[in-house]
Amino acid sequence: MKGIILAGGLGTRLHPLTRITNKHLLPVYDKPMIFYPIEMLAKAGVDDIMVITGGSNSGDFLRLLGNGKQFGLKHLHYGYQEGEGGIADALKLCEDFVGDDKMIVALGDNIIERNIKQAAQEFKAQKKGAKIILKEVDNPGEYGIAEVTGTKITRIIEKPKNPKSNMAVIGIYFYPNDVFNIIKTLKPSGRGELEITDVNNAYLKRGLLTYNVLDGWWQDAGESKDALLETNVFVKEHGANKE
Ligand code: DAU
Repeated sequence: MKGIILAGGLGTRLHPLTRITNKHLLPVYDKPMIFYPIEMLAKAGVDDIMVITGGSNSGDFLRLLGNGKQFGLKHLHYGYQEGEGGIADALKLCEDFVGDDKMIVALGDNIIERNIKQAAQEFKAQKKGAKIILKEVDNPGEYGIAEVTGTKITRIIEKPKNPKSNMAVIGIYFYPNDVFNIIKTLKPSGRGELEITDVNNAYLKRGLLTYNVLDGWWQDAGESKDALLETNVFVKEHGANKE
């Protein structure tokens, strides 16, 4: 299984904090934000990871992370996204890296209290399609939201204006390598991005999307300055990526 961490984008919601650096290099308690998704993947048994960055701070990632040895990785690869064409646009750059393998894709600003071992094991055994992870939130207007009837997801809406559910699709996704064919069919959304929600809806339409509900706390630390602060305080008090 390959691991992918997406750490491009402009992080405009955190200006001026992100005016001269990349969001994923900002501190979360005692470590740079990017350390957390790397540790999460390493703990799930993934030791071959590609980090996608962009903008003018990409060299800082190499200086900070090196060859990944400090995380116990076998290989750490880097890719550069030109512009900010969206999460699926960044993922597109990993096609050759993934090859015939399956992958776990983590957004570089998503931090969890516990781990994804169970979901990763289930996905390994899953013959076809993708898996996502859901978590109940108080502010569903800020995320991709899954509407669930019984145990079935009926649709996923990106940042709904009138949310009909509070189950957020968190930024940790499990895909087979046909995800790259799906990305090739996508059109930019209203905000000019290739949306990961469109990828997930494509699997949903084919009846090939499974989900788990996350155990423990989760935060999209890049969602707002308050979310970043909350993440810092939570991680200091409770830790992250725990067994
Ligand atoms: O955090 C979970 C949410 O993440 C999901 O619920 C949403 O469905 C999903 O669209 C995403 O929403 P955000 O609006 O929070 O995405 P954001 O633009 O903050 O990008 C998330 C990460 O993806 C960011 O940490 C860096 C990476 N990224 C983003 C863009 C737009 C890239 O690598 N390249 C990009 O062009």
